[in-house]
Amino acid sequence: MSEIKNLSSRIVKNSRGDDTIEVTVLTTSHSGSFSVPSGASTGSKEVIDLPVEVALKHIEDIEDKIVGMSVTAQTDIDQRLHELDGHTDNFSSLGGNVALGISAAAAVAAAAEQEIPLWQYFRKAGAAIGNTSAPRLVVNLVNGGKHAKRGSPIQEHQIIPDTTNVAEALEMAIKVQTSLRQLAEKRFDIEEIGIGDEGGLELPTTSIQEPFQLIQSAIAISDVSKPITMGTDVAASSFYSEEGYCLSDSILDTESLVGVYKDLSEICPLLRWFEDPFAESDWEGFVDFGNANIADLTIGDDLTVTDVALLEKAIQQQAVNALIIKPNQIGTISDTLNTIDYAHRHNIRCIVSHRSGETEDTLITDLAYGLQCYGLKAGAPNAPFRQEKYNRLVQIAS
Ligand code: PGA
Ligand code: ZN
Repeated sequence: MSEIKNLSSRIVKNSRGDDTIEVTVLTTSHSGSFSVPSGASTGSKEVIDLPVEVALKHIEDIEDKIVGMSVTAQTDIDQRLHELDGHTDNFSSLGGNVALGISAAAAVAAAAEQEIPLWQYFRKAGAAIGNTSAPRLVVNLVNGGKHAKRGSPIQEHQIIPDTTNVAEALEMAIKVQTSLRQLAEKRFDIEEIGIGDEGGLELPTTSIQEPFQLIQSAIAISDVSKPITMGTDVAASSFYSEEGYCLSDSILDTESLVGVYKDLSEICPLLRWFEDPFAESDWEGFVDFGNANIADLTIGDDLTVTDVALLEKAIQQQAVNALIIKPNQIGTISDTLNTIDYAHRHNIRCIVSHRSGETEDTLITDLAYGLQCYGLKAGAPNAPFRQEKYNRLVQIAS
């Protein structure tokens, strides 16, 4: 089988204008590249990225340990990356960005080598697939928290068009986005409406309810062909401290925060998906939230960081029934596939997600489609570096 002949890497800009690395794996006749995204509201147990200059040096230093390996031997390559890292818990020695850059670029090169689309390469890898024909689009329309300069402490306010027809879902999302813009411009000063990290609106209100109510009104006035569910990534770790949850001038304990969500879901009955409603250390909060029957999906992100051991704990404690999958939380393609496999075998829904600092790469779309994951979360439908992910899904799913 075809051997890896060479590794190369360079610095590129991400959607925030920050530096990140792009890695290219070269075989005799093919090549594959991947550029590494980065988060702003990261879980504390995610892999550690190293500064770009250090990362480039590491890639140069280990090149001879990767060259000569079969490009299609994904598990061996990823195992080698763990060895080169000295098996730390979080790739802190080699660099999470170095590991994922090489691992993912190798996957892209391997698919090219086999002359199959990347999604098919992922599907052939043998992880258990989900039970959807195509992932639902999880589209972020309003940014807050760490992804915005102003607004609600809640990070993401999303819509999920209820269809696996991807082109139709995208069309619906764009219609609601247009209606939302019109409603927001009536409600606020146009100059005070901004655009957040993932391309959603930044609204000049610190109200928890108002962004959801505006989206609900936007759905109601949009001429859409199918029902729409609403979702949120609360990213609650970002407003949690030892005193409790600091939400709009008050400090709340876990029980009071469950109450806030209950009220919110009464005001906005369409709101059914909750990601990270509690801080990553507040496992009890997740369990209480599930028991309160507020949501259809309780989704772990910072809580589980695509780590199979944390997912296992979350399943045992019945803390979640869905999880976010982000390859750069865990560092290799094999580890990512392993977590998806475990989730699907335990009836946990996977939502593959971008990061707030994205690149033009569309590998996550192929991953979501290839493993028949329940959702693909990629920001606003028309934002740079986000639109590419949705367009890729339209391309491969139709
Ligand atoms: P991040 O945000 O990429 O800044 O971590 C996305 C998310 O929390 O889902
Ligand atoms: Zn999240």
